[in-house]
Amino acid sequence: MKTTKVGIIGCGMISDAYFKASSKFNILEVVACSDIIPERSAKKNEMYGVPNVTNEELLANKDIEIVINLTPPQVHSKIAMDALNAGKHTHSEKPFGVDAADAAKVMALSKEKNLRVGCAPDTFLGSGQQTARKMLDDGWIGKPLSGVAMVMGRGPEKWPHAPFFYDYGAGPMLDLGPYYITALVNMLGPAVAVTAVTKKGFDTRRIGPEVAPQYQHMVEPYGEYPVNVTTHLTGLIEFANGALITVLTSFDIITNAKTKDYYNFQIHGTEGTMLVPDPNGFGGDVQIFRKGYDNWVTAPKSHCYSENSRSIGAADMAYALRSGRKHRCSGDLANHVLDIMLAFDRSSKAGARVELTTTCERPAPLPMGLMEGELDA
Ligand SMILES: NC(=O)c1ccc[n+]([C@@H]2O[C@H](COP(=O)([O-])OP(=O)(O)OC[C@H]3O[C@@H](n4cnc5c(N)ncnc54)[C@H](O)[C@@H]3O)[C@@H](O)[C@H]2O)c1
Repeated sequence: MKTTKVGIIGCGMISDAYFKASSKFNILEVVACSDIIPERSAKKNEMYGVPNVTNEELLANKDIEIVINLTPPQVHSKIAMDALNAGKHTHSEKPFGVDAADAAKVMALSKEKNLRVGCAPDTFLGSGQQTARKMLDDGWIGKPLSGVAMVMGRGPEKWPHAPFFYDYGAGPMLDLGPYYITALVNMLGPAVAVTAVTKKGFDTRRIGPEVAPQYQHMVEPYGEYPVNVTTHLTGLIEFANGALITVLTSFDIITNAKTKDYYNFQIHGTEGTMLVPDPNGFGGDVQIFRKGYDNWVTAPKSHCYSENSRSIGAADMAYALRSGRKHRCSGDLANHVLDIMLAFDRSSKAGARVELTTTCERPAPLPMGLMEGELDA
């Protein structure tokens, strides 16, 4: 198979999943990488044999068709625009931008240049979320009426770059919300309005020696960091299909990650209830309860990709470029998800229901019967 050559900008924590993409998806070939801290891209060269270059050299490489953007959220739109201006398609880590204006610039440039933009999360292409989508589409819970999507924790203080999670463009909604809100749009379609109340539980956070030992070499200076975002966001999303979903994203809650009490994801329909697996992952079981059942029933998995397959969204873009079909982790989807997420703080500030200004199509489900490594039947 002729490969699609990609370049990776940003060689931090998440990048390993993308450097391994070539071994998972034959269509992708990582041919260059860069980082503003050159030692980081040099390290990836050592580990994966991918040439490390500057951003400018990577963007000037005529062989590269897709730029994979793994920089922090505050830099996403700049790198995406640099890639588009260099004539490349681009796929970014989430979120799509730090605010609506930031994302709108990228959308406008991609249209002007007739180049594709895409964005993580791509976890909704995993077996867990594709099975949930299929069970819903096949009517196992009837017409969806309501649901709950909650993700709770005490924040990422054990991560070396913890301060960025408390800065503009992050917080629990823009960091973890993309998994849940994208999964909801994949299952239910676009949303129309948000009503929310949001707050900040703590004015500062302390980043200290509790950072996990394997990340100690990357740690930013220890100390107190200001919290520049809301860290407890709760509200209601109204979907165009009529479903009302109650949402909570929080970095202010002490919970037990080991027992999976950090999330709660359910869809309630006219004929039953579906427990949806954690969308910050690819696998997990879908469980159904219908009238007349005496216990939850686990659905068979309708699709593959139950192990970590991050980069599947970029691979899907590569396949889509070949056939001319739409790519699933699209800019339209990511821009709508961002609009929904940002509406929580807007609604809270205004003390009012906020109508959304964007919409999108539901991404097409993956075909059944694919083998791992493939995306088109
Ligand atoms: N770490 C995770 O588990 C994880 C999981 C899913 C998604 N993400 C997302 O991936 C993105 C990156 O997260 P991360 O955890 O890898 O962060 P990170 O800080 O470990 O890595 C980001 C890298 O980008 C580099 N960088 C910053 N500005 C740059 C520029 N202008 N040009 C080139 N390189 C630049 C930094 O030097 C750093 O090495 C974020 O958007 C995050 O939300 C992270």
